[in-house]
Amino acid sequence: MKNEMILVLDFGGQYNQLIARRVRECNVYAEVHPYTVGLDEIREMAPSGIIFTGGPNSVYEETSPHYDTGIFDLGIPILGICYGSQLMAYLLGGEVKTAPVSEYGSTQVKINTSSKLFHGTGEDATVWMSHTDYIARAPEGFSVTASSNVCPVAAMENADRNLYATQFHPEVMHTTDGKKMISNFVYTVCGCRGDWTMESFVETKIREIREKVGDKKALCALSGGVDSSVAAVLMSKAIGKNLTCVFVDHGLLRKNEGDEVEAVFGPEGPYELNFVRVNAQERFYEKLAGVEEPEQKRKIIGEEFIRVFEEEAKKIGAVDFLVQGTIYPDVIESGLGKSAVIKSHHNVGGLPDCVDFKEIIEPLRLLFKDEVRKAGTELGIPAYLVQRQPFPGPGLGVRIVGEVTAEKVRIVQDADRIFRDELESAGLGGQRGQYFAALTNMRSVGVMGDFRTYDYAVVLRSVDTSDFMTAACSEIPFAVLQKCMNRIINEVKGVNRVLFDLTSKPPGTIELE
Ligand code: XMP
Repeated sequence: MKNEMILVLDFGGQYNQLIARRVRECNVYAEVHPYTVGLDEIREMAPSGIIFTGGPNSVYEETSPHYDTGIFDLGIPILGICYGSQLMAYLLGGEVKTAPVSEYGSTQVKINTSSKLFHGTGEDATVWMSHTDYIARAPEGFSVTASSNVCPVAAMENADRNLYATQFHPEVMHTTDGKKMISNFVYTVCGCRGDWTMESFVETKIREIREKVGDKKALCALSGGVDSSVAAVLMSKAIGKNLTCVFVDHGLLRKNEGDEVEAVFGPEGPYELNFVRVNAQERFYEKLAGVEEPEQKRKIIGEEFIRVFEEEAKKIGAVDFLVQGTIYPDVIESGLGKSAVIKSHHNVGGLPDCVDFKEIIEPLRLLFKDEVRKAGTELGIPAYLVQRQPFPGPGLGVRIVGEVTAEKVRIVQDADRIFRDELESAGLGGQRGQYFAALTNMRSVGVMGDFRTYDYAVVLRSVDTSDFMTAACSEIPFAVLQKCMNRIINEVKGVNRVLFDLTSKPPGTIELE
């Protein structure tokens, strides 16, 4: 049976994925689609509700994204957020204007709690605003259900037609009661029952995979990270020994990681998998020699991965399916949707044109990271594996700025090990989203003992994040950083400077290259 679905219609705003996650946190499945998706396709999807996202444009400009007004006559409830609210107002005959000053950040609004959307929320609410244009006049048939000092229509609705709009962002955690508003929309307005749980996802996926693969063979690209580990265990529950997991040690793993992965998934570990470890370090270093451009490095690593898999597949013989641990943010961030390309993740955008498998199976393609972890728990994977920090497919290749060499890999592995050990022994590990050492391409003069040095600068990076779409630099006590610096300079040959990266995402990315 098909899950209920909320369609998140993407007008280019930065919180699009967050909206979908918030809906899913209410146990209702949500999918993000670009605003270019046609009315007929929407009819076919038959969503229980539609959410128009925010976006950077002004609705009254000709080139701005609009939508066929027929969408309001489908009889499907719609919630417009930020740009989406202005678009709803504009298309239905209201007035949208530019404000002399933008309204940005936490704002107090007065709310009419008799609205279905605001039922159970406070009358004086703190909400997150981020706009310059505003709705000056709501369309006919709409009533205003929230306002602030500078925003006359902070929310509006036409309850008879099930059309709702908020100028503010209920999906952002700074909107107190934002979760309640989303939940009111999906349950009270759209009438969803909440059939999206990881238990049902895992059950359905296992069944679908069995039907699809039958008694053919599949090869799983296992990196030992959360995503591919969950994909591997899911696949193995579905097709048992028809699955072979190939773990490529590309020489870009963290220190001792190859052995750690083998200990869990290899013959000594708890799973009954066909496990093959391929030591392909030299091959990757050769391909990467002299290459400095980050996207090119990713593509080379991605392509080489696939070549190694193809070779392994030939050895096994008659392998039809390649399994990858791609997850939803990879799909969206790789620009396969409408959003701009930020970087190509090797397991999506970097695939070579010709892949020697009949089909690729990406069982986690529709899941956000926290859902992958829940699915992993559902599958009985131990917490220490399921809660692991993410590690990028291209590995240390994207934590070394400029050319990758075996020597640089050794430096970054050793520095990273020290940084992680020190954070963990200071009791700071579990609280952070991701922390690691990266290597700059900068060498500078230093002095050690009586000698001049001309060595590399290591960067320590630690970020707090739950969704990996945005992140803030973690506050690490200075004494801990000092200790890391001392140990790295003393213990890691080739390093004479240690820097701490303060950048948040945006404007930075989490990885550093
Ligand atoms: P960024 O650097 O894009 O990272 O802010 C967001 C999250 O994605 C991981 N990441 C990658 N994962 N292939 C992957 O499989 C990649 O090329 C890649 N680049 C970044 C990163 O570790 C972080 O968790």
